[in-house]
Amino acid sequence: MSEKQLPTYSRSQLALRNGQDKPQIWIAYRGHIYDVTKSRLWLRGMHYEHWAGQDLTDELQGAPHGEDVFSRFNVIGKLQP
Ligand code: HEM
Repeated sequence: MSEKQLPTYSRSQLALRNGQDKPQIWIAYRGHIYDVTKSRLWLRGMHYEHWAGQDLTDELQGAPHGEDVFSRFNVIGKLQP
């Protein structure tokens, strides 16, 4: 799917994909929403001290890894600015 055709989701739609309320687990990073449902490292929406269902762009600087970790995952939408 090209960038233009990606659906846009609001922050409250993203928040429902926190690994608790719906089966999907999503996280936003730099305007893109990634589906990390298949990750064993985001079980129930939790990843170390972080929760899915939100924009974690600013939090990545505190991580022991870079944004390359997203390469395994599909961008499924854009976060409503
Ligand atoms: C205290 C903060 C964090 C710790 C200790 C942590 C630790 C880890 C570790 C050990 C991995 C395994 C693979 C690797 O190192 O490359 C990983 C993967 C990953 N992390 Fe983090 N992380 C943190 C924060 C974050 C944040 C803020 C995000 C999102 C912006 C994030 C997104 C991911 C993703 C998407 C993966 C790949 C999961 C997979 O391949 O199944 N992490 N993290």
